[in-house]
Amino acid sequence: MNDKLALPVGTTLDRFIMRKQEDFPYATGELSQLLRDIALAAKIVNREINRAGLLDVTGAYGNQNVQGEEQQKLDVIANIRFIRALRNGGEVCAIISEEEEDIIQTGNTKGKYIVAMDPLDGSSNIDVNVSIGTIFSVYRRTSETGCDGTLEDCLQNGTRQIAAGYIVYGSSTMLVYTTGHGVNGFTYEPSLGEFFLSHPNIVTPRTGKIYSCNEGSANSFPDGVKNYLNYCKEEGYSGRYIGSLVADFHRNLLKGGVYIYPATAKAPNGKLRLMYECNSLAFIVEQAGGKASTGTKRVMEIEPTELHQRCPLVIGSAEMVEKVEEFMKAEALVS
Ligand code: AHG
Ligand code: MN
Ligand code: MN
Repeated sequence: MNDKLALPVGTTLDRFIMRKQEDFPYATGELSQLLRDIALAAKIVNREINRAGLLDVTGAYGNQNVQGEEQQKLDVIANIRFIRALRNGGEVCAIISEEEEDIIQTGNTKGKYIVAMDPLDGSSNIDVNVSIGTIFSVYRRTSETGCDGTLEDCLQNGTRQIAAGYIVYGSSTMLVYTTGHGVNGFTYEPSLGEFFLSHPNIVTPRTGKIYSCNEGSANSFPDGVKNYLNYCKEEGYSGRYIGSLVADFHRNLLKGGVYIYPATAKAPNGKLRLMYECNSLAFIVEQAGGKASTGTKRVMEIEPTELHQRCPLVIGSAEMVEKVEEFMKAEALVS
C-alpha cells in the first residue's frame, strides 16, 4: 500500500477544543461550548453561501444597516444564523453585530460571555463567487450574571478579549481562532461535516512582499501611507486586494504582508469597525507574532466608546506594520 495515501484521520475541531480545555485547570467548558456553537453556525452559513447562486439569496435585502450600508440578503441570513446558534448555546448574554444597531440581548442572563461579530464580511463579493468571511471576538462580561449584558460589558478594549476568530468561505472553508495561546486553523471537510486541524500553531512571517489596500482611494490617504506605497513599489512588492478583509488578512497571515485601511476623505476614521473587525484580527495577528496598529498606536489599546466605532487599520507582518508606522511618524514630524 502507498503510505502517502493512508492519511491519518486527523484532529476534529471538537476534539481539539476539548483537549485544549483540559490544559486549563479551572476551565468549565463554557467557552468550549461557545466555540462549538460558532462552528455550528459557520457550517450552516457555509451551506447557504455554497448554494447562493441556486437559491434566491444573492443580491440586496432592501434595507440599510446602522452604518448606512446596503444589507445583502446573505448578511441578514448570516446574522440570524449566528445569533440563533449563540442564543441556543446559552453561554452568551449579549451580542454586538454589524447588522444591528443596539446590543442584542440573548435572554441567557446566566451567560458569562459577550460576542462581537461581523456575521458576513466582504458583502460586495457575495454575488461574484469571491471569498467572504465571518469575524468574531469573545469577552467575559464584567457585570454580575443574572441580568442582561450592559454597555460596559460590550465596550471592553481589545486586550480583554478571551478569544477571537474568523471563518473564511473560500476555495475551501477554514476556521481560524485563538484563545490567547497561539493561533490554529481548521479546514472544513464538507462530506464529513467537520472542521479538521490543518494549520496548527500559525506563525506569521516577520516580513513579506505583499501590500493590500484600496489604491483607488490613495489620493485621499494620509501622506505617510502614500509614501509607504511608493516605497512598496520601489521595493518591487506585490499589490493584492480582494476587498474582503477576512480573505486579504488570511492570505497575508500565511504568506506575510500588510493590510492597510487608513483614514480617507470619505471615511475620516477609516472604514473598518473596531469591535468586530479590527480588534478581533488584531488579537489573532498578535498571537501569530504580527502587529495591528492604527498607524500611530496599538489597536487593542483603544478604549471603545461606541458599539460601531471605526478605526484606521494597519495589520500584518510585524516589520511591515512598523515600517508603515515609521512613514506615518516621519510625515507627522514634517507637517
Ligand atoms: P462588510 O462587508 O462587513 O461591510 O466589510 C467590508 C469591508 C472589508 O471586508 C473590506 O476589506 C472593505 O470593506 C473594502 O472596502 P473598500 O471597498 O472601501 O475597499
Ligand atoms: Mn466587514
Ligand atoms: Mn459584514
